[in-house]
This record gives sequence, structure tokens and C-alpha cells, in this order.
Amino acid sequence: MSDSSTMQQDDEQPRPLRVQDYEELARVRMEPAAWDYLQGGSDDEVTLRANREVFSRLHLRPRVLVDVSRCELSTQVAGTPMSMPLLVAPMAYHRLADPEGEVATARGAGAVGVPMVVSTFSSRTLEDVAAAAQGPLWLQVYCFRRREVTATLLRRAEAAGYRALVLTVDAPRLGRRERDLRNGFGLPPHIQAANFSEELTAALSTREHGRSGISLHAQEAFDTSMSWEVVEWVRSVSRLPLLLKGVLTAEDAARAASLGVDGIIVSNHGGRQLDGSVTSLDALPEVVRAVQGRCEVLMDGGIRRGTDVLKALALGARAVLVGRPVFWGLATAGEQGVSHLLSLLREELALAMAVAGRPTLGDIDSSLVFRP
Ligand code: FNR
Ligand code: LAC
Repeated sequence: MSDSSTMQQDDEQPRPLRVQDYEELARVRMEPAAWDYLQGGSDDEVTLRANREVFSRLHLRPRVLVDVSRCELSTQVAGTPMSMPLLVAPMAYHRLADPEGEVATARGAGAVGVPMVVSTFSSRTLEDVAAAAQGPLWLQVYCFRRREVTATLLRRAEAAGYRALVLTVDAPRLGRRERDLRNGFGLPPHIQAANFSEELTAALSTREHGRSGISLHAQEAFDTSMSWEVVEWVRSVSRLPLLLKGVLTAEDAARAASLGVDGIIVSNHGGRQLDGSVTSLDALPEVVRAVQGRCEVLMDGGIRRGTDVLKALALGARAVLVGRPVFWGLATAGEQGVSHLLSLLREELALAMAVAGRPTLGDIDSSLVFRP
């Protein structure tokens, strides 16, 4: 891992030099329908593409003759320490990429000091992930029609040592992911939503052209009547710090901050929910203005480079989350793939900070962003 220019993998492939090198390595290793589930977005995938394009439209204003002999990347979010301002985004069913699933991801992330947000729909139980993890874990929460199912999940997370809850608020139903409809995608028999009984999750295994098992299950199980009262409800069940994931407007950010949430994750769910929605990078400034420092603001969507992280921080994010690339690392080389991919991002971020003349996180502000 130390000398990435000369090390070779077992199959004599050159070692990946950048996050995006992992994409092709993962694609050839995954089942085509699982790959489509991972990579895809909703409808015409306009937002999915925009999530990448927006980063190349934003330019930076580096400062020179700054002492950058010591760069400092480590930080804390909602009381959780991390080696850089980056977390693994919650994603369902890691066993689609690796037989060990979330257990391998958690080990790989922990090895480089990166916290992992475990999905409600993990394919290993949240307790198994906690037992294997070396680093901090947060739990992502979907709210079920049967509130006691969610309440039990929250209590289990607290008991297993999870450090924060991420309530996803942008998915009362799942977006229309046409790749999944075309493939008739549902979970293969050996993979389950491990936190729940089979009786609660049977629809996930529907495999039929024109239908998505994942979406059918959500339609059956998610509480579509959920509204702002849910924040108080979660607080009544758990004392863990609470972040809302999937906020894209100043209006909702102000409301969340006034309800006292600990953080907001600006996100369009990786382009998988409302197609045509604004990118997180474009929404970030209005969200940061609206919360006025009352809570922490994070973002995700399209982060593939250290400079992408730098741009998000410059627009006011406290940290970012990375989704699909972590799956690429996992599918390519399991735990080692995850830790190597995350360490590439860390090296790139440290380098970007140095050549931008911003050696510490505290030096990164909106003066780094070029406005024509
Ligand atoms: C997701 N995402 C997601 N979000 C969430 O809150 N709960 C979940 O269970 C999942 N599951 C999930 C599965 C897969 C396969 C993907 C690709 C994404 C969304 C995820 O947390 C995040 O918002 C985006 O993936 C970020 O965009 P990038 O980094 O993938 O571009
Ligand atoms: C997804 C859900 C499970 O994006 O969040 O596939």
C-alpha cells in the first residue's frame, strides 16, 4: 500500500491510481443487473450526470507562498472523529459486491479512520458490522409504516455502539430506476435485508421484467405519511445525534435547524430519486446560509477526487460522503479495496490543500471559489 506506483495486484493488473480506475475493475466483477442497480439513477439520469458535471464547472482560487509543510485533515462531525472530512455513504446490500458485505466495508473504512454509515438495508446485521468494525459507525434510518419496527432498529443501533443516526428524508417512495425495471431486478436468494425478518422483506426478492423488487418493497413498507413530526419521534426513541439526509433547499434546512437536528446532509440520493433535482454542490450555499451555524452541513453526490472534496468544503460543507466508489473498491478487492480507495482520496485531498495554499481545514472557505 505504501508504494502505489510499483505495487501490482495478484492478477498483474497495475494498481489503481485514482478512484475512477476502480469503476471498470468493479464492473467486470459484478453481476450485470447488480451493477445496473449500483450505477443507475432515476428516469433519464439527468441528475446522475449533473452530479459529476457540476464539479468541473466550479473553479478554484489558489493562494501561493503559504507554508504548507504541515497539512491537517483530521476533524470531528457530530462528535465522531475522522481522519479526513469524509464518510462512507449509506448504501444497501454490500453483499452484491462481496460475500462478506458490510463487514468488509467497515473493516476497510476503519483501517483508514473513515466512519461508515450503515444502511437500514445492510446485508449483514448491524450487530455483525459493529462486531467487525475498527472505526466509528452511524446508522442510516428508513422509517417504516410500522413504527415499532423502526423503534427496534434505533434501540439496536444504540445498544451496538452506533454513534449517530442519519434519517433519510428524500425517499417516501423510491425513484423510477428504469435499469432495474428492465432487468426485473430483485435481491438474489442468498442476499437479504439482514436486520429484518423474511416476512417483512419478501417483496425485495421479486424478479420480474418491468418491476423492481427494491422499489416494490419500499412501496409496501415505507411510511409515506411521514412529516416533520418524525424528528420529535426519533428523539423520543433515541438519544443519538440525528442528521437528516436528502435536504436540498433553504426552506427545509431552516426548518430542520429550528427543530434542533445535529446535522443536515445535502443530497439528491446519488441521482436515484427526483430526476432533474438540483445538485448538492449547487444547493449547498443556500443550505449553509439558511442554517446560520445552528447545525453541521454535509453533502454527497459525485465525489470522485480530492479536489471535489475541497470544492464542497469551500462552499461550506463540514464533510462529504462517498457512495458508489466505495462499492467499486469492495467489489474489486474487498476490505483492501475499500481502504486503498479511501486512502487515494485522502492523498489527493492533502495534495489539493497544499497546492491551493490551504494547509488546514480551517483555511478552506468561500474565498477559494472563483466567481466570474
Ligand atoms: C444508495 N443511497 C442510499 N441512501 C440511503 O439513505 N439509504 C440507502 O439504503 C441507500 N442505498 C443506496 C444504494 C446504492 C447502490 C447507491 C448507489 C446509493 C444513496 C447514497 O447514500 C448517496 O446519497 C449517494 O450514493 C451519493 O452519491 P455517489 O457518491 O454515489 O455519487
Ligand atoms: C436505494 C435505496 C435503497 O437508493 O436507498 O437503492
